[in-house]
Amino acid sequence: MTEISRRKSDHLQIVAEGRGRQDGLSTGFDSVRFAHVALPEIDLDAIDCGTRFLGRDLHAPLLVSAMTGGPDEAERINLHIAEACAELGIALSVGSQRIAVEAGAAGGLGRQLRRRAPRIAILGNIGAVQLNYGFGTTEALRAVEMIEADALILHLNPLQEAIQQGGDRNFAGLLPRIEALAAALPVPLGVKEVGAGLSATVVRRLQDAGVTILDVAGAGGTSWARVEAERGPERLQALAAPFHDWGIPTADALRAVAPLMRPGQVLIGSGGVRHGLDVARAVRLGADLAGQAAGALPAARHSAEALVQHFRDVIAQLRIAMFCTGSGQLAALRQAALLRRDAAGDWSQGSGLVSDAPQG
Ligand SMILES: Cc1cc2nc3c(=O)[nH]c(=O)nc-3n(C[C@H](O)[C@H](O)[C@H](O)COP(=O)(O)O)c2cc1C
Repeated sequence: MTEISRRKSDHLQIVAEGRGRQDGLSTGFDSVRFAHVALPEIDLDAIDCGTRFLGRDLHAPLLVSAMTGGPDEAERINLHIAEACAELGIALSVGSQRIAVEAGAAGGLGRQLRRRAPRIAILGNIGAVQLNYGFGTTEALRAVEMIEADALILHLNPLQEAIQQGGDRNFAGLLPRIEALAAALPVPLGVKEVGAGLSATVVRRLQDAGVTILDVAGAGGTSWARVEAERGPERLQALAAPFHDWGIPTADALRAVAPLMRPGQVLIGSGGVRHGLDVARAVRLGADLAGQAAGALPAARHSAEALVQHFRDVIAQLRIAMFCTGSGQLAALRQAALLRRDAAGDWSQGSGLVSDAPQG
């Protein structure tokens, strides 16, 4: 097994065992509290949580966030995810295709992925920093074509690379390379973080460079400082310790970035999404879709059926949140009234409402 393969296997194991979670920081989702609507005046079974993404219909505003694995597991997991996403009608973001691009469609990242999920939105994925290490338009195109991706996502992971032994540390001059790639690709280009969040400043620069899909992948869920420290020697653990809770909490990132979105651009809320209520909160804060990685991993490792069941529960929770806010569609959920915490720490309605309730 190569060093990269071993590292990816370790990541999967550490995250699946719950050893990669932020320990001192929350996403901020728990401070987003909907005003309960006791008279919703809608039929729960008639709620429509569908949306459109990259010209395709989604049954729910959900994305399985990018996850790579080691060689023994990657193929199985990717095919489970593709089958489950096809069954559910939700979007799929594959993990890094770096090895597949270099070694030729390895790890379940070939045409069989698209064959299993012919109608859903599939996002390709490579590390943005690879643009400084030999990857250019040719490699990016190969990543898109090998899975017939509807868009390509570049991940930004400076914290992870800085802590990882032998990480790719040269992030200098990446923005013009991202801009050139956005202009050259036949599909939309997106950028995501991996659990430390995108700020408004970074998002503005990426938008100006032609990036049209922004995934905040904020802090409060998987912490790469923790994951990398878990597999490293003692010295590395000490080095990483102050950064365990580094990053912009997901809810804060969404609040900062949502007002910047331009027509036709897509905002994805991810990082520490635990359940369907967090999905509803992300949508309320301005996300078009919510993404989940670690929370879906145990089921994704197990089977496609387990993953379908996992996301059926997530979607049921989203629908309950829509029901109890009187939101028949996602557009109404985006306007749903929130409670605000007053100086005494109590949740208040009335003049404390952030916006007026749609009804009730
Ligand atoms: C095992 C594992 C592997 C990952 N691999 C990738 C990757 O290859 N590319 C990427 O963009 N993000 C990768 N991520 C980051 C996730 O896509 C996501 O941004 C991050 O884990 C935060 O979401 P979460 O809190 O729901 O896990 C990976 C996450 C996990 C748990």
